[in-house]
Amino acid sequence: MKDVSALHRLLLVPGELNLPAVSRFLTEALDADGSIVFLIDQNENELNVGAVHPAAHGLEKQLKIPVGYGVTGLVASKGHAVTLVDDSPRNKVHRALLGLRPDQTVSRMCAPAHGTASRIVGVISVHRRGSTSFTEDDLKRAQVYADLIGLRLFAEGLLGDVEEHQAQRNRLIEQASSAQEAERRRIAGDLHDGVTQARASLAFHLSAADVGLAATGPAERRIGDAQVQISAARRLATLAYDETRAAIRGLHSLILEDLGLVSALESLTQVSPQLDIEFRTDLDEISDVPDHCAAVLFRIAQEGINNVVKHAEAGHAVLSLRRAGDAVVLAITDDGVGFDLASARAQRSVDALGEHFGLSSVAERCALIGASLRIDSVAGRGTAVIVELPL
Ligand SMILES: Nc1ncnc2c1ncn2[C@@H]1O[C@H](COP(=O)(O)OP(=O)(O)O)[C@@H](O)[C@H]1O
Ligand SMILES: [Mg+2]
Repeated sequence: MKDVSALHRLLLVPGELNLPAVSRFLTEALDADGSIVFLIDQNENELNVGAVHPAAHGLEKQLKIPVGYGVTGLVASKGHAVTLVDDSPRNKVHRALLGLRPDQTVSRMCAPAHGTASRIVGVISVHRRGSTSFTEDDLKRAQVYADLIGLRLFAEGLLGDVEEHQAQRNRLIEQASSAQEAERRRIAGDLHDGVTQARASLAFHLSAADVGLAATGPAERRIGDAQVQISAARRLATLAYDETRAAIRGLHSLILEDLGLVSALESLTQVSPQLDIEFRTDLDEISDVPDHCAAVLFRIAQEGINNVVKHAEAGHAVLSLRRAGDAVVLAITDDGVGFDLASARAQRSVDALGEHFGLSSVAERCALIGASLRIDSVAGRGTAVIVELPL
């Protein structure tokens, strides 16, 4: 017979519990011929073999016992230890693990391993072949061992959960910051494409006017030329102003805070005087979309509409927000030129820091809020960007 402190030492080793060593301890400590340590799976409906002593060289993987079924399964569901005399399990793998020939029986003892009072994480099963059965005293000791093991397994499971949550949290933070990064690049891009270029040509037209006025020749012609340059410059100044406003609008979601998602989306349809964008919704206001999700949906719609304006050459576009069962579906569709998704994707990965990050930031944002994204585009037919957010 072995001292419980030997088990305690095994349980104190950090990392994953050495189950074969535990199974061996149980066998020796309870003067048995062997033992099986069963673990309850995550869904709590099946017992798998965690370890068996003596070793069964992989055979143990084939034994699965439903919780509530047979003696072992009942111990797992009821939580009471039992002793059995002349037991003869029908399951062939189980028999093999107990070292039984067809005509042989075995004395067994099964004890539930509690993680907490209400939570059973496994079952230990100890057996003796031949005629020596287990006593009440053996059973009491087995239960003490089982509960020490159960507590250890439970702690291990909790630690695993904590680590998984931590990893998930880190992933989310990473995604959030890369979405932020993408947003900064988008703003930089908007400013570069719109404002900077408009300002450069504005300066060009103004100096052309300047040069024209200073040149020789009839005053009327020089003034006429200068006027042409100046009105071109004025148009560019207006354009730069609009572009700046658009970039600023992209920076904050005051509209969203002020108006709520539905009206904020509707306001997006007025971004471009050239293109008529239809807004469709069957909702007055969505109260069950969390604020951060509403902000993300708004940004996605904004990028989608920007793309339609910038690239689609569309005659008609639709922005829609609908409810579909337990989800909210945002869609931006146009009847424009469409594009090749595969090559756009390849292009995006080529210039990681390149100008085209709109669609990748849409994908990142979707991942961030757990929404699914579908982009359908057919050359000459148009594009649909569809985001489905489960609530
Ligand atoms: N609605 C659309 N219609 C046609 N082409 C589109 C549309 N949306 C996106 N594209 C194409 O996909 C490319 C990538 O878009 P995006 O990632 O938003 O980058 P950007 O708008 O900065 O070019 C665009 O350059 C354009 O060629
Ligand atoms: Mg874009």
